Amino acid sequence: MKPFPPYRIQVVKEIPITTRQQREEALARASYNAFDLPSNMVTIDLLTDSGTGAVSAAQEAAAAQADRSYAGSDSYYRFRRALDDLTSYPHIFPVHQGRAAERVLFSSVLKPGQISLSNTHFDTTRANVELLGAEARDLPCPEFGDLSSQEPFKGNIDLEALEAILRGPERERVGQVLITITNNGGGGQPVSMANLRAVRALCDRYGVPFFLDAARFAENSWLVVQREPGYGHLTPREVARQTFALADGCVASLKKDAIAPMGAVIGVRDPELAKQCEANLIATEGFRTYGGLAAHDLERVAQGIEEVLDPNYLRSREADAAYFAELVTNAGVDIVQPPGIHALYLNAGRLLPHIPPHGFPGHALACEMYLTGGVRCVELGSLYLGKFDENHNLIEPAPFELVRMAIPRRTYTQAHLEYVADVLADIAKNPDRVASYRVVDAPKLLRHFNLKLERI
Ligand code: F0G
Repeated sequence: MKPFPPYRIQVVKEIPITTRQQREEALARASYNAFDLPSNMVTIDLLTDSGTGAVSAAQEAAAAQADRSYAGSDSYYRFRRALDDLTSYPHIFPVHQGRAAERVLFSSVLKPGQISLSNTHFDTTRANVELLGAEARDLPCPEFGDLSSQEPFKGNIDLEALEAILRGPERERVGQVLITITNNGGGGQPVSMANLRAVRALCDRYGVPFFLDAARFAENSWLVVQREPGYGHLTPREVARQTFALADGCVASLKKDAIAPMGAVIGVRDPELAKQCEANLIATEGFRTYGGLAAHDLERVAQGIEEVLDPNYLRSREADAAYFAELVTNAGVDIVQPPGIHALYLNAGRLLPHIPPHGFPGHALACEMYLTGGVRCVELGSLYLGKFDENHNLIEPAPFELVRMAIPRRTYTQAHLEYVADVLADIAKNPDRVASYRVVDAPKLLRHFNLKLERI
């Protein structure tokens, strides 16, 4: 029997239907930067899966009961119980979102000149490491280099490269190892338990703290249950518990796998580190029992964590992503294989060989998807990861020219996904019509969000 979502839709929100002419004008007004499009000009929004999931009636009921006491509110204790049960970390702090968790934790862990090693740092994670004067170094496993291969855990860290650094002269400079589950910056691929255990052993041997960036802990756990020998008999909650138990602590945006509009958590074992985080949190985010979140957000997160670990939900979400992947591949567009859960990554470089890296094939495809069907998604290629000179000329392209189509949780039906695949099929029938782009303005910091481009 085909998996189906374990919920029905009770509240809906209308989506805008626009004409090509309106979209042409809107994209030109946005200087061809999708982040500058008003959402009322977007039909299917696949920009992110963060804070965009549909909340449940149970989440809204809990939110309505929220206790807004400044200190020690009922909502905080509910949040604590949900995270205590999952993580086993003795020190848990709510924070408003993942990047705040990164800032608070890293500023107690990392010193200027130190190195943070990761399978791949997410962009805010990298920024928070670099703002402290430390270096963020990615060590993705070699299997990720082949986008078409079916290796099940292409999100793993390269253990040999990790050990070589820990054994070598740079060991003194390594401030932390941070594993992102699932690996959002690396094709949304999962990390295996075997890889996490090996990281634990290396960190013990060389005395380095090991943290998780656990934004998609439930989806990673589900893919472990599905793909890793020896885990098929466990529930996703059991695997998630084992995952958190392996690390010294975590940062986790809860806008993804807690299916909440806002929220994040810091969890740590070390009491000294906890004290430092707490002082920083109280000074900059909020008191330790709300950390910058409204009580209703604490409630939505606590309830969302229960819902996201339901195997029926995860099975249906994985099936949706797999179905979407099949439609897109049949439409003639290659994706990073095997498909993960939270997003599909389109191989724009392969679809648009007539556009060189300095014409930004990923960005060109994302723009064309918007113009053709009002679908918004984002480039992960040379525009984002390449190196540029002062005149905005690309001097070093990214290894791949990808476009990420994130899939918000419980938000779109299979009919919406079929529509997006139709848009892609239309483009893939005649890819030569897709034009190149040129950067006309870009700030130094967080350039991706603030770029201005023109079509060539
Ligand atoms: N870590 C990972 C792996 C993420 O994917 C994100 C956010 C963050 C940290 C930061 O969390 O947004 O709550 O501050 N990712 C979103 C995305 C924005 O679209 O992938 P945040």
